Amino acid sequence: MHDQASVLRNLASREKHKSKMRVIAVTSGKGGVGKTNFTVNLALALAEYGQRVIILDGDLGLANVDIAFGLTARYTIEHLLSGEKTIEQILLTGPLGIGIIPGGSGVQGLANLEHDQLANVVVNLGRLERMADLLIIDTGAGLGHTVINFLQAADDIIMVITPEPTALTDAYGLLKTLRKEAGEVPIHIVINRVKTEADALATYKRLEVAVSKFLHGSLNLLGWVYDDPLMGRAVMQQVPLGISYPESSAYRCIQWIAGTVTGIYLSPPRQAGGIRGFLSTLLRSF
Ligand SMILES: Nc1ncnc2c1ncn2[C@@H]1O[C@H](COP(=O)(O)OP(=O)(O)OP(=O)(O)O)[C@@H](O)[C@H]1O
Ligand SMILES: [Mg+2]
Repeated sequence: MHDQASVLRNLASREKHKSKMRVIAVTSGKGGVGKTNFTVNLALALAEYGQRVIILDGDLGLANVDIAFGLTARYTIEHLLSGEKTIEQILLTGPLGIGIIPGGSGVQGLANLEHDQLANVVVNLGRLERMADLLIIDTGAGLGHTVINFLQAADDIIMVITPEPTALTDAYGLLKTLRKEAGEVPIHIVINRVKTEADALATYKRLEVAVSKFLHGSLNLLGWVYDDPLMGRAVMQQVPLGISYPESSAYRCIQWIAGTVTGIYLSPPRQAGGIRGFLSTLLRSF
């Protein structure tokens, strides 16, 4: 596996000057922190801002992204690797024209390709440049070989953490490795499932203090997402939160983050309080 990454980079750089598709990898130290749902809803919010988005479901375990959209993948990246299907044939189309590349177990193969296969895959993935402005990769948790490859290759890494102590410890471990393996790639932190803004800031502070000894400057807080029971409901319904509950506090946070990602800076949203929240704020001002 000597120089897989550099071959891929060389092949990819030939395509690169034609157009620029930004690649964002979403990752986490610990599983189950909300990466897939964040990815799906970030894609939706970005599409609302007029961005053309494709999601690569890079999770090696269960294919989740298609399920979150209520879609069923017929073919996966495995069919692309074997040469049976083209990228256009495996690509699913979700709401607002969002493209979904089902990964399945084929994703692991991406990191272990022969040169001929690699060329074929790069040509196919290269065609994505014309179809989208952004490729978002849901990498799955942890530090497998494939995940590291994705993270090294990305323009930006979004790392999802939660305020739980274990998620923080795992995030610390991941950051430590990333500094060695993907030192150049900017890492943006999203804190998911926070109760309050103060909760988010305190969690970020704890992470920052823990990593300040070995990480210099490349970490930043991208935003946070409220713990929101509507997220769980959206998951059960297999309809992304941004479609089933676009006014939910969690989705509004993700819209805010999407704004930052597209370069539009908005002020952080507050917890959605509905009409009661509105009234209590209004009445307090009298
Ligand atoms: N902001 C939130 N508020 C409430 N619940 C949430 C939130 N984000 C995620 N969840 C819950 O966490 C569960 C796991 O989320 P998700 O599948 O996106 O995590 P993941 O990091 O992709 O997991 P895995 O590591 O297994 O791929 C969801 O089913 C949902 O119920
Ligand atoms: Mg997932």
